[in-house]
Amino acid sequence: MERAVVQVTLFGLLLVLASTLPNKDDWNIYSFHINSTVTSRYATTVITSRVANRMDDSKEIEFQVRIPKNAFISKFRMFIDDQWYDGVVKGKEKAQQQYTEAVSHGQSAGLVSSVGRTLEEFKTSVTVAAHKKVTFELTYEELLKRKLGKYELQIHARPMQPVKDLKVDVYINEKAGINFIEVKGGLSTKALANAITRTHADKQAWVYFYPTEDQQKTCDGCGEQGMNGDLVIVYDVNRDTSLGDIKTSAGYFVHHFAPSSLSRIPKNVVFVIDQSGSMSGRKMQQTRIALIHILNDLAEDDHFGLITFDSNIFHWKRELVQANKKNLESAKTFAQNIQARTTTDINAAVLEGARMLNAHPREGSASIVILLTDGDPTSGETNLERIQSNVRRDIADKFPLYCLGFGHDVNFEFLEKMSLQNNGVARRIYEHSDADLQLKGFYDEVATPLLTDVTMIYNGGTNLTQTNFSQYYNGSEIVVAGQITDNDIETFTPQVVAISRDRKVTFSDTNATMEYTGTDFDSHIQRVWAYLTVKQLLEKELLLSGPEKENVKKEALELSLKYSFVTPLTSMVVTKPLGEKTDVLHKPKEGGTTQGHSTGVPFPPPVQPSWASIIPAFHNGLQGMPGISRFTDAYDVFDDFVGADDVDSDDYEDAMIVPDKTTNVPLSHRFLLKTENLSLPLCFDVTGDVRLKLLHHPNRELSVNGELDTVTNGGFRRIVIHFKTDLYVEVDTNVITVREGQTLTRHTGQDLITAGSLTVIRRNKEIDVAAGDTRMVIYIHEKDGVGFLWPVLRQQPLDNNVTGIIALKPAVYEEVQQTPSTKLKIKDQEIDVTRSNAFDYSIVSPPTLDCWLMSVESVLQRHLDDFIVTQL
Ligand SMILES: *[C@@H]1O[C@H](CO)[C@@H](O)[C@H](O)[C@H]1NC(C)=O
Ligand SMILES: *[C@@H]1O[C@H](CO)[C@@H](O)[C@H](O)[C@H]1NC(C)=O
Ligand SMILES: *[C@@H]1O[C@H](CO)[C@@H](O)[C@H](O)[C@H]1NC(C)=O
Ligand SMILES: *[C@@H]1O[C@H](CO)[C@@H](O)[C@H](O)[C@H]1NC(C)=O
Ligand SMILES: *[C@@H]1O[C@H](CO)[C@@H](O)[C@H](O)[C@H]1NC(C)=O
Ligand SMILES: *[C@@H]1O[C@H](CO)[C@@H](O)[C@H](O)[C@H]1NC(C)=O
Ligand SMILES: *[C@@H]1O[C@H](CO)[C@@H](O)[C@H](O)[C@H]1NC(C)=O
Repeated sequence: MERAVVQVTLFGLLLVLASTLPNKDDWNIYSFHINSTVTSRYATTVITSRVANRMDDSKEIEFQVRIPKNAFISKFRMFIDDQWYDGVVKGKEKAQQQYTEAVSHGQSAGLVSSVGRTLEEFKTSVTVAAHKKVTFELTYEELLKRKLGKYELQIHARPMQPVKDLKVDVYINEKAGINFIEVKGGLSTKALANAITRTHADKQAWVYFYPTEDQQKTCDGCGEQGMNGDLVIVYDVNRDTSLGDIKTSAGYFVHHFAPSSLSRIPKNVVFVIDQSGSMSGRKMQQTRIALIHILNDLAEDDHFGLITFDSNIFHWKRELVQANKKNLESAKTFAQNIQARTTTDINAAVLEGARMLNAHPREGSASIVILLTDGDPTSGETNLERIQSNVRRDIADKFPLYCLGFGHDVNFEFLEKMSLQNNGVARRIYEHSDADLQLKGFYDEVATPLLTDVTMIYNGGTNLTQTNFSQYYNGSEIVVAGQITDNDIETFTPQVVAISRDRKVTFSDTNATMEYTGTDFDSHIQRVWAYLTVKQLLEKELLLSGPEKENVKKEALELSLKYSFVTPLTSMVVTKPLGEKTDVLHKPKEGGTTQGHSTGVPFPPPVQPSWASIIPAFHNGLQGMPGISRFTDAYDVFDDFVGADDVDSDDYEDAMIVPDKTTNVPLSHRFLLKTENLSLPLCFDVTGDVRLKLLHHPNRELSVNGELDTVTNGGFRRIVIHFKTDLYVEVDTNVITVREGQTLTRHTGQDLITAGSLTVIRRNKEIDVAAGDTRMVIYIHEKDGVGFLWPVLRQQPLDNNVTGIIALKPAVYEEVQQTPSTKLKIKDQEIDVTRSNAFDYSIVSPPTLDCWLMSVESVLQRHLDDFIVTQL
């Protein structure tokens, strides 16, 4: 006991020493607050950072935070020397002038750039005199989107150093009542559990997150640079009436429509899958997995079709067929055998999908086309405009087209435009180990149509946002905002007309939830209207050309300026104290070639813009005007991450747009080897893209190998079990594939799989494997939202001849020296070790354990090569 206490103290002391070092000659963030207020799904978040220059010289102090891509920055200001310096939103051209002037004076500009799937980075800096302070305050606003039955507010906390006074306050106010609220995200871990307080009282909820300085250094993903991660507040509201919530105030209204007590409409869905050469490898594999999951989820009264295409079109069946067991089995076999081939004829494939749906009776059902592609059209019709007009002609507003752009070589703007022209949305699928989950996740959002041809009617309303929606899906929400003509509430009557299964339905119970909020919320409802209107105008602009485009653009610009939104049409100009640089902050835009920023219609849930939206990084004006190559930008972002030592998987993935993949930093995976008594376990790192021999049991003809994940440093991506001569079981985070002789079966559910004397049982996040006297468990853990596998040997075979990394005997060592550094003695060998820690993935909720870190060879007592296999 006594020894343990001493060790803890030493450990704590080390941390303190280390953390004071970088700050000694630097600036100090003494307070960092994030305050988010959500009223009727509209979130306004204020980040306030107070920084002191503790130096005897003036110092350039940086403010760098990450905000959701869907948000508009609406305010930024700095307080220096008893004076506020306010950012001003200006039209891009005006801002550009100011910027150019600044550059010509040798000054630089700040920037907002896109990081990861959901975040954008805002960055600026200011020079602060010796022993003076600065306060940065950034405000952004966003309308939370309901997806799969919940709203998510993402808060990214990354102050760049441990902060004494770090607070995240979230206040949610929903008049309809809050149904449930949860806190998720990378920061919501056990280590930080006691820093999070959640209070929920019917219509209101509060989440407070006040981590201590120590917690900020030791949490998952955090380090000497302090906290770095997300807090995601997940909630939904009660829905009493089918017409939904209508809030009105000062002449504006917002209507949230999400009826839930409707029965599903059978759907007719055609999947159009790209199998061109560029899809080969992991992308194709993930597509196959996702497709099989999706097929498993089809209901018996759904009809479906499956088309794959490269330069040719391949049908599974020429017409839509019912999703009965026999057809599904056959379709799954077809899906399993999709192979990547040659070039891409998008035009012919989508037209064929439309033909199949057009040929199928639509009464009482909802039709959908889902296109998955990873590239440009390269064969058949390749003129983008002609493809768009062909597709539009053949679909003729009869059903929505959803386009999924896989990876970063895709012409996303083309897909986006084509989706919007056909009542759908485009979504990016990030090339990442969870791509199959992204595909399945998108499908889930549209899997349950409840209404089609939804028309939202507002007598006495004007300046409405989008009112016609081709389909409404379970778990989503339609939001419409507008003005009330002459603010005359008496004559304002909302009504929704739609088709449910095969009958027309009207929703119009006006008395229940029409809510008149006082003047407190005046600006709030008006801002929701402005936010939605700007988002939709930006989208509309994408579809138009000529004078119409200019008009829409002008309208969007005027509103952005009026409501002070930083959109792709505006910039924020931050004027600093005399003699300092002027910053011009732009919102990045999708694709980087047109002005259109893709943020989606209110329904279905919008497209998340992506990595491509990296705006030019200005380097002290050397490169002059914006529009410098994307290549440089990519490196900028990349360096940023690597330098900051916070390569989280999303960011990393996105930064990998650099053409040369050799810049890929190999991941280290940490393994633990426990001891039989209670002394500290040993740990060691295995680095790089390797396949390991997990277990080899020659007498039973059993061998198990695993491939380490290359995206997250958690554990294994795939594990393969070979048993006897003809049984092969492959496990990944989603699917268990069994090959017995010539028969291949795939299991995605909570199946019991038996094959000879091998049994595999999957229960939720745990896969049990038993083969004779050997029993192992494969856990499915998650890190940064990415699943990985971790195998544990539960029953050591009696046989002495068993080898492999999970069959290592418990560690036996003696501590022989403690100063100046610790040495352990293992089998007559003295080994230098350092104290470290590791996740114990052999447990469902992995705790962090302290351990003695040493080289892999020292632990294994032989070369790692003996544990490496070339083939799974
Ligand atoms: C957060 O913002 C709200 C609304 O602006 C304000 O009422 C509240 O006092 C703020 N809370 C904190 C802790 O700053
Ligand atoms: C819609 O989703 C909810 C849960 O999110 C579920 O309870 C309900 O049964 C679903 N409705 C249909 C028709 O599937
Ligand atoms: C709202 O609509 C009226 C006409 O119905 C129009 O005159 C007015 O300019 C519109 N307001 C805005 C802010 O678009
Ligand atoms: C919306 O749909 C209705 C009928 O369904 C139609 O009359 C109206 O023109 C549509 N409005 C728009 C803006 O497309
Ligand atoms: C509207 O309110 C009246 C009186 O409170 C009630 O009788 C009626 O049923 C309500 N209508 C609906 C559709 O709820
Ligand atoms: C564990 O066993 C080793 C070797 O037998 C011994 O040196 C060590 O003191 C033991 N540790 C504890 C905590 O019992
Ligand atoms: C281990 O394998 C050797 C041959 O490779 C065999 O002679 C020996 O009996 C085996 N040991 C056990 C315990 O099965």
